[in-house]
Amino acid sequence: MSKNLVIAIDGPAGSGKSTIAKYLAQKLNAVYVDTGAMYRAITFLALRNDIADNTPEVINLVRDLDIKLRFEFGITRVFVNDEEVTHNIRTKEVNDKVSDISRIPEVREELVKIQKKLGENQTIVAEGRDTTTVVFPEADFKIFLTADLDVRAERRFKEFLEKGTEIDLDAVKSNLAERDRIDSSRKVSPLKKAEDAFELDSTSLTIKEELDMLLEKIKSLKETEPQ
Ligand code: DC
Repeated sequence: MSKNLVIAIDGPAGSGKSTIAKYLAQKLNAVYVDTGAMYRAITFLALRNDIADNTPEVINLVRDLDIKLRFEFGITRVFVNDEEVTHNIRTKEVNDKVSDISRIPEVREELVKIQKKLGENQTIVAEGRDTTTVVFPEADFKIFLTADLDVRAERRFKEFLEKGTEIDLDAVKSNLAERDRIDSSRKVSPLKKAEDAFELDSTSLTIKEELDMLLEKIKSLKETEPQ
């Protein structure tokens, strides 16, 4: 029997990580781990409890939470203490605050523990900002996905329109640029390319082209694996 694989994908907001991670997980019969959804869930609760600017309270909150992800029908369902927050975590308010919450070291520490456990006994495709560098530094295959800011903004803008949220393209673009800046410059686990990650620029690729390229790489990895 072949061993469980850990595939880790990092990259800036809107680079297409979650789309490609979902397809890869489907093809590989793996569990999709959306680590950003966890940071978003904490952010949503902190905003709702009106404590998002109170770091000690946010830390208490994260230590008390039971977070579960369930990937069903193409979406990641997110539960905290058995309350479903799936539809609350992708709002403009959460987008604007999530990078601040995710730079709190204690928040990261708690979430990384949960994420590492998910990779213990099953094949997973995990995506986020530090999955190739901190959560799964020993991953079997590491991908660093990028795309031009304009293309990323356009993709996120379309997602908002599909959900019926009115927003302007410039606001989406400046939120992405600001998140990139905070996520890449924070002291703890900044977004950066792991030395041994395969870098893929998706600016002018279709999803199918990206997926085929990555599946080919993963296949060659499996073929070279000792039996
Ligand atoms: O992938 P996303 O846009 O849903 O992630 C939301 C935010 O969460 C992102 O701006 C930074 C943070 N994040 C992180 O710090 N580390 C991760 N592994 C995943 C997300």
